[in-house]
Amino acid sequence: MRHLRFKAVPTDPDFSQWQGHALVVGAGGIGGALAEALTLQAPELVVHTAGPHRGTWRLDLCDDTSLEAFGTLALERFRPLRLVICAAGLLHDGDLQPEKRLRQVNRSALRQSFELNAFGPILLARVLEPAFPRDLPVHFASLSARVGSIGDNQLGGWYAYRAAKAAQNQLLRTLAVEWRRRLPQACVTALHPGTTATALSEPFRSSVPPAGLFSAERAARQLLEVLATRSAAQSGSFVAWDGQPIPW
Ligand SMILES: NC(=O)c1ccc[n+]([C@@H]2O[C@H](COP(=O)([O-])OP(=O)(O)OC[C@H]3O[C@@H](n4cnc5c(N)ncnc54)[C@H](OP(=O)(O)O)[C@@H]3O)[C@@H](O)[C@H]2O)c1
Repeated sequence: MRHLRFKAVPTDPDFSQWQGHALVVGAGGIGGALAEALTLQAPELVVHTAGPHRGTWRLDLCDDTSLEAFGTLALERFRPLRLVICAAGLLHDGDLQPEKRLRQVNRSALRQSFELNAFGPILLARVLEPAFPRDLPVHFASLSARVGSIGDNQLGGWYAYRAAKAAQNQLLRTLAVEWRRRLPQACVTALHPGTTATALSEPFRSSVPPAGLFSAERAARQLLEVLATRSAAQSGSFVAWDGQPIPW
């Protein structure tokens, strides 16, 4: 009888020894801290950052031309791409403010929030897919938010942001199902960083007790700890900064 011999597949999700390229999109409060922490924690990864204003590369997730050009760049410059964290997001911007009641819900705010918070991460995955290796473990993570949990929504309000993050979660879960076949070593994760002292949370954190508010550096450290324990077997999950699952 002929014995089939299986090649050992490297599945260790701890990226501290990984080689290749890493990318953080949205080098803002948490994204900037993630890039710095990654550089120290995974010295063999070349860490790139990208965004519309900050970062080593220009990328606007709401602009298809920018996304396509970035995909081409990634294919030329970032291979093998081992770890991607989308840390881009929008809660408020001038007239765009989280809604307190139904009367404040409007089409333009819904659209603006969905453009980045929902569509951004999945369109990023689409243009980056060719740069990911099939035969090595990879992480694709995106910063979602606990308020995007439908099951956990007891407080209401923040219609556009909540709904856009919920849509992001569903899109990432769907991606995880597809990549189980196409990129079997990929781990797709939607992450809640916890309330973190950045420009995004600044107007809304007066009621947060100091112990419940993380510095960007602490949030980054915690998120990387969570990612380092998650492998392709757990792909498609929504988890918080402490590693606890969040209901969809
Ligand atoms: N802070 C919190 O308490 C908290 C809680 C839960 C979830 N989150 C989530 O965590 C993520 C990071 O938030 P943060 O607190 O670090 O906010 P932040 O400091 O305001 O950073 C937001 C980032 O989004 C990027 N961005 C905005 N528009 C973009 C676009 N069109 N294309 C690409 N990037 C774009 C910005 O890029 P530029 O810097 O280049 O402008 C910026 O780097 C967000 O997804 C947020 O929803 C944060």
